[in-house]
Amino acid sequence: PNITFVQPTGEAVELEAAEGTSLMRAAVSNGVDGIVGECGGQAMCATCHVYVRPEHADGLSEVTEDEDEMLDCTVAERTERSRLGCQIAVGLEHDGIVVDVPSGQV
Ligand code: FES
Repeated sequence: PNITFVQPTGEAVELEAAEGTSLMRAAVSNGVDGIVGECGGQAMCATCHVYVRPEHADGLSEVTEDEDEMLDCTVAERTERSRLGCQIAVGLEHDGIVVDVPSGQV
């Protein structure tokens, strides 16, 4: 699926990810600035924080308890659009998803 990461500057980075890849993996393996993924996807660092655009939020996996707890530890402000990128697997049905990258992760 096609994923777009929008930087705080407004610069959009569009990439093609393998089906089922997490948003964090897709970003890190493509060198997208602002997505760190320090814990390797264990929902233990919150450095993969993203803001999912509301029009793309449908059909994403539910926020688990672990994710919810970590979302309280993000550096950038948590909003109702906040998710951990490592906890979102991008399926074909999410083709074209757009997420905003926070202004800071660490
Ligand atoms: Fe650490 Fe997502 S990569 S919480």
